[in-house]
Amino acid sequence: MEVPLYLSSRFRAFAASAALMAASAIAQAQQALPNVMILATGGTIAGAGASALNSATYAAAKVGVDKLIAGLPELGKVANVKGEQVFQVASESMTNEHLLTLAKRVAQLAKQPDVDGIVITHGTDTVEETAYFLTLTVHTDKPIVMVASMRPGTALSADGALNLYDAVVVAGSKDARGKGVLLTMNDTIQSGRDVSKNVNIVPSAFSSQWGPLGMVVEGRSYWFRAPVKRHTVNSEFDIEQISTLPPVEVVYSYAGVSTTAVDAVAKSGVKALIHGGPGNGSVADRIVPRLQAARESGVVVIRSSRVPDGFVIRNAEQPDDKYDWVVAHDLRPQKARILAMVALTKTSDTKELQRIFWEY
Ligand code: DGL
Repeated sequence: MEVPLYLSSRFRAFAASAALMAASAIAQAQQALPNVMILATGGTIAGAGASALNSATYAAAKVGVDKLIAGLPELGKVANVKGEQVFQVASESMTNEHLLTLAKRVAQLAKQPDVDGIVITHGTDTVEETAYFLTLTVHTDKPIVMVASMRPGTALSADGALNLYDAVVVAGSKDARGKGVLLTMNDTIQSGRDVSKNVNIVPSAFSSQWGPLGMVVEGRSYWFRAPVKRHTVNSEFDIEQISTLPPVEVVYSYAGVSTTAVDAVAKSGVKALIHGGPGNGSVADRIVPRLQAARESGVVVIRSSRVPDGFVIRNAEQPDDKYDWVVAHDLRPQKARILAMVALTKTSDTKELQRIFWEY
């Protein structure tokens, strides 16, 4: 049926104004959404396996950030997202240089008024170390949310998409401000300081002995506690004043341990040696004199424990005051190393270092 000209022109005018109204409504809706930057670094969340049945056999760090975002259109409902590939590594291969590069970029972006929150996709193997480094050195109260996955996106029941969606929800949430660097995994919101990978093959791999800070369910975050240790804007360490990180190594201990590793590390030029001992950070009788010699040569000795939970008590099984050793509090060896590197950019005084280990 032919539409009369005057009707068609009025219809066209109506259609044009309706389109304009719709466009402005969309623009207003987008303006209402938070602006979230997604920085990608690699890992399984960017991994790809040969088949849907490969949940553990795959290549990490293969998929670029733009593809990750394009594969998750739901993100556009909760935030205006932009992606940036900072680097593309399997996180067991992270270096101090990677940490510095990432932290400097995060700090730079956090200063931008058009950035409300930052998500960082990362491998699960060392995300706990990167998260702690960022919480110690990036001075912002904007949400910085790390996210990873235990299965590649190609696998059945892949966990990356929901983890990433949850991370963007949290990064865009005002409630997440001022809580330090966070990690969203498996519906939980974890403190970047406290969280560790405790299982190496399941989506519920990450936990903290002090519990999660909150949960994310169907695009909404629920909070139950906040960190008490110093972080981000309350930290005395600032990535903008750090250009290099001093060498710090970990020596793992066990029944029958020889002096080979501790001697080699002590003489390698390290500024600090983290001793990952059994129990309450125990030190074998044949290792004590090696650590004392290391201390006398100027190496800072820090007692941590290989036991996942609890915390090392000063002067309990070792006379730390007498030996001038530092205890790592509740930090596992890998996290104690991160704090030691950062702290040593400011001081090598053991009393100051012990204060720092109590406070961070
Ligand atoms: N290669 C490991 C990593 O990049 C894969 C583990 C993962 O990301 O889940 O940390």
